[in-house]
Amino acid sequence: MKQFFPGVYSFGNNPATLNLVKGTSVYGEKRIQLDKNEFRVWDPKRSKLSAAILKGIKTLPIKEGSKILYLGAANGTTVSHVSDILGLNGIVYSVEFAPRSMSDLIALSEKRKNIVPIFADARFPEKYSDVGAVDVVYADLSDPQQVEILLRNAVLFKAKFIMIALKARCVDSSEKPKVIYDKSRKELEEKCRILDFVILDPFEVDHAFFVGEMK
Ligand SMILES: C[S@@+](CC[C@H](N)C(=O)[O-])C[C@H]1O[C@@H](n2cnc3c(N)ncnc32)[C@H](O)[C@@H]1O
Repeated sequence: MKQFFPGVYSFGNNPATLNLVKGTSVYGEKRIQLDKNEFRVWDPKRSKLSAAILKGIKTLPIKEGSKILYLGAANGTTVSHVSDILGLNGIVYSVEFAPRSMSDLIALSEKRKNIVPIFADARFPEKYSDVGAVDVVYADLSDPQQVEILLRNAVLFKAKFIMIALKARCVDSSEKPKVIYDKSRKELEEKCRILDFVILDPFEVDHAFFVGEMK
């Protein structure tokens, strides 16, 4: 079967992941049965990581057994696919500060044992410092200071890699997206080497995605 990355398969035009919890969907996504395996189609219009994979990122530091710190987990749409890729030897610490999303995330973590929900504000990583060192910090926060928050977390948790979905209008709605992307790149480059940069249009308008390796 064709794969984009280890653990990320290709079905029709979309990525898909091997379902860790057979027989259940998380956000109404399609499931496909193949021999004894069940795959979940990963909708690029619902998940920016799926869109970034389709737009051609070359590096995916999220692998079987990795330890991930995910900032802005919402109700777990993307986190659930990350959980599939990691398998039960990996773990995704999932930070979210909206109570309603957190209750969905807690319910999801009861079925998926590699998701650890953290009800906290990602601007204050000291509050969840017991997480310890991680392989990757992933950020998808609707916050104008998103890059700064990501880097603060990545330094504190000694991450090897960072991944970030950036919404230009959230940083500055009066600026052209390209100006925001360039500015964010410079800010990221103070602490990491950029490995990938893709624009997520048409899946997500005025969004871009960076993958970087911490210096
Ligand atoms: C665009 S949504 C995330 C979507 C999710 N990553 C996905 O793909 O399924 C952004 C989320 O970040 C959360 N958020 C924004 N600022 C935050 C902060 N400082 N700490 C924790 N969560 C935050 C919001 O509550 C919202 O749920």
